[in-house]
Amino acid sequence: MAWITKDSANATIERRAEPYLTDALKKQAADTYLPRYETKKAATLPVLHMIQHTYGWIPHQAIEEVAAFLELAPGDVLDTASFYEEFWLKQKGKHTIAVCRSIACEFCDHKALTDRCRDKLSIEIGDTTDDGEFTLIELECLGACGGAPAALIDEKLHEFLTPDQLDKLIDEARRNKGHHH
Ligand code: FES
Repeated sequence: MAWITKDSANATIERRAEPYLTDALKKQAADTYLPRYETKKAATLPVLHMIQHTYGWIPHQAIEEVAAFLELAPGDVLDTASFYEEFWLKQKGKHTIAVCRSIACEFCDHKALTDRCRDKLSIEIGDTTDDGEFTLIELECLGACGGAPAALIDEKLHEFLTPDQLDKLIDEARRNKGHHH
């Protein structure tokens, strides 16, 4: 994988008036997490989990609020959050399509699945469609190598998947608007 240089210094941070780390969440963090650790810094992961659990992702504004709360530099919190794939620093769509990219699925042409999603939804890996419906990602082994190529659509695992089937599943997911979250 190539390193991509991001122009972070010139990035604009979207802000809203209401904090993400609300007083209620601060209280929860202070009561539940801070007493468990010797330093405030050590509570970074659980507090980030709390934010993601509450909002489904971690906005940059929340990173700053967590940093202020834990008396850390925002960059330190961002470093931690961006290190873990499980943390979402971009808003996620209503549906997540996660194509397995590990070896068994790679042999079984996982790329055809990813490419179909790219074409159909006009997004790249890691992106979300403009209508907020779908996010496309690739993950490591889903533990379904015997059914390669495999992909998860939301929580559901699909094995021996063909691009045409995936196409249909995406259409179905789009129709089932009420079924998640
Ligand atoms: S390699 Fe894809 S499920 Fe294991």
